[in-house]
Amino acid sequence: MNTRRTHRWPQPLDGQAQRLWYGGDYNPDQWPEEVWDDDIRLMHKAKVNLVSLGIFSWAKIEPSDGVFDFGWLDRIVDKLGRAGIAVDMASASASPPMWLTQAHPEVLWRDERGDVCWPGARQHWRATSPVFREYALRLCRAMAEHFKGNPYVVSWHVGNEYGCHNRFDYSDDAMRAFQKWCEARYGTIEAVNDAWGTAFWSQRMNDFSEIIPPRFIGEGNFMNPGKLLDFKRFSSDALKDFFIAERDALAQITPDKPLTTNFMVSSGGTTLDYDDWSDEVDFVSNDHYFTPGEQHFDELAYSASLVDGLARKKPWFLMENSTGAVNWRPINYRKEPGQTVRDALAHVAMGADAVCYFQWRQSRAGAEKFHSAMVPHAGENSRIFRDVCELGEDLQRLSDAGLEGTELKKSPIAVVFDYQSEWATEHSANPTQKVRHVTEPLDWFRAFADLGITADMVPMRGDWDTYEAAVLPCVYLLSQADSQRVHDYVSNGGKLFVTYYTGISDERDHVWLGGYPGSIQDVVGVRSEEFAPMGDDFPGTLDHLDLSNGAVAHDMADWITSTSPQASVLATYQADRRTGMNGVPAIVVNPFGSGKCAYIGCKLGREGLRLSLPDVLGEMGIDRSCEPNAGKVLRIERDGEDGRSRFVFYFNRGDDDVKVRFDGNVMVSSLAQVEEAGDAASISPNGLLIVKG
Ligand code: GAL
Repeated sequence: MNTRRTHRWPQPLDGQAQRLWYGGDYNPDQWPEEVWDDDIRLMHKAKVNLVSLGIFSWAKIEPSDGVFDFGWLDRIVDKLGRAGIAVDMASASASPPMWLTQAHPEVLWRDERGDVCWPGARQHWRATSPVFREYALRLCRAMAEHFKGNPYVVSWHVGNEYGCHNRFDYSDDAMRAFQKWCEARYGTIEAVNDAWGTAFWSQRMNDFSEIIPPRFIGEGNFMNPGKLLDFKRFSSDALKDFFIAERDALAQITPDKPLTTNFMVSSGGTTLDYDDWSDEVDFVSNDHYFTPGEQHFDELAYSASLVDGLARKKPWFLMENSTGAVNWRPINYRKEPGQTVRDALAHVAMGADAVCYFQWRQSRAGAEKFHSAMVPHAGENSRIFRDVCELGEDLQRLSDAGLEGTELKKSPIAVVFDYQSEWATEHSANPTQKVRHVTEPLDWFRAFADLGITADMVPMRGDWDTYEAAVLPCVYLLSQADSQRVHDYVSNGGKLFVTYYTGISDERDHVWLGGYPGSIQDVVGVRSEEFAPMGDDFPGTLDHLDLSNGAVAHDMADWITSTSPQASVLATYQADRRTGMNGVPAIVVNPFGSGKCAYIGCKLGREGLRLSLPDVLGEMGIDRSCEPNAGKVLRIERDGEDGRSRFVFYFNRGDDDVKVRFDGNVMVSSLAQVEEAGDAASISPNGLLIVKG
């Protein structure tokens, strides 16, 4: 069991009041020093009060082995600090310089075929290299020694997006570390054999030295799923171990400065087990980049809610987002008018007390020259910079009104997110490649939002079992202990929603026997004997199932063969008799102990859930007091501990103007028209309203 670090937040500069932090990654080393004064002028104009410095500056800070040059960094830190702008200082270790990798090519990571990842971009290092660790920690110590008394450095930004490019390393260093990791986890090689089911395909090992990473096995072949799952765990842990070493090197010298590292939490972001990592930072910070198209706002709100769940409702830091287009998709869509401000404030609504961007000034050269920034190529006279200034005003007003330190109000409903279930469901030899953990929680979050409910995203290790209702969406792995938790939650009165593909295997990915979902069958009150995946890759295959309530299932259904005598069947399939699915239960509600469990036996997607949920909520006894515009607006509330400050955020989720009634004083409005009486407003698409009540 991890012990969680105590929450510590970067404190304001001497003489300044506590404010929401606002700024971005600042790379002054990419610009002639003449530009710096203009940067500071513009930062003042935008009300920027913090920048992250030096993230990719190793080569400039340590131009050759053991020779440090802090001159330029001191000059800019001093300029910023005197101008009242705080610094979130990087460990600077994210991208090793050429001299290091030329002298020590053994620090470069290798792919699954053993090919070297050469320098030319960034993060070309392996977490398990003792040589790299020595260099990186020396740099951390030098940074800490140099900045230990500096009053302008308010926090450490350790590394950068660990695992973004170097998540999996298959080198010999990684192999040795993986062997040790297995030994620590399992104790004996027999236990590893057992966990990985190596009796299958003659994979039995006699000794830990026979463990190799899941290296290339030929196209179309199937890697041992237990080993692959453990390699994903190991890779997250190996990077975490490296992060902790860097963090501690800094913390030892500057115990007063809080430390963080930026996560990459989004609806598809499962590079690392961020919930496990969240124990190891003083404050959680996240980088989020919008999904273009119709998911844009919902996906953002969902991800931000999950970050709030990882932060256990303590203030968190939006370390990066974009003012406009990114540069790393095949097509890099711009933001629509209003979205820059709206997106940032949606993170704030979900508990962020800091809004930062990648990056301050848009680069002229290098791989990110077409990535948007706070000061775009067009300069100060631009829509983006005007939005940046507007947002600065908004954040100032919210700070003055006392938003900082308030917390996202607990929702009645928790939707669970589980990193490890995602990793297991990614395997290439599962019932269907169309179903994975990761898509289901977002569908639930959106369907609840369509019904006017803003659910909380809560990690599996979090406190979902303290909510009135909770959803386990494709939580494929359930250990014995988690199964017991499910059991206890419902028997003590919890209202639980469980979907297909939940509780299939234990934490080793050994299937629970006796019918799915094996370990919680009594709670859910259904028994399924077979999966019924759907698809259209062959002519005439079953590609959907109609439900008796009008919803349509795709991709996956359970063949439920029996339900408990107390259970009510809310919907069945209406299918061609020969499919064997006609009349099979699709949605079942089972009373269990003092609680109830709803089982949704197929993939309904957002549409099907929206259609089915009202009945299910009714059957579960969950009150849904709908506001007139439920579904069109996402309503989010942040409250102060003492009930002193209560902020209500209203976001237009749709394509039409929408009217809201409110009680309180309007703090911020963007693309919204407040009526004269001051108790109602019309919010345009991409618009929002923040009210203090
Ligand atoms: C992040 C990274 C930043 C920048 C940004 C661009 O992954 O931390 O340095 O590259 O993406 O979207």
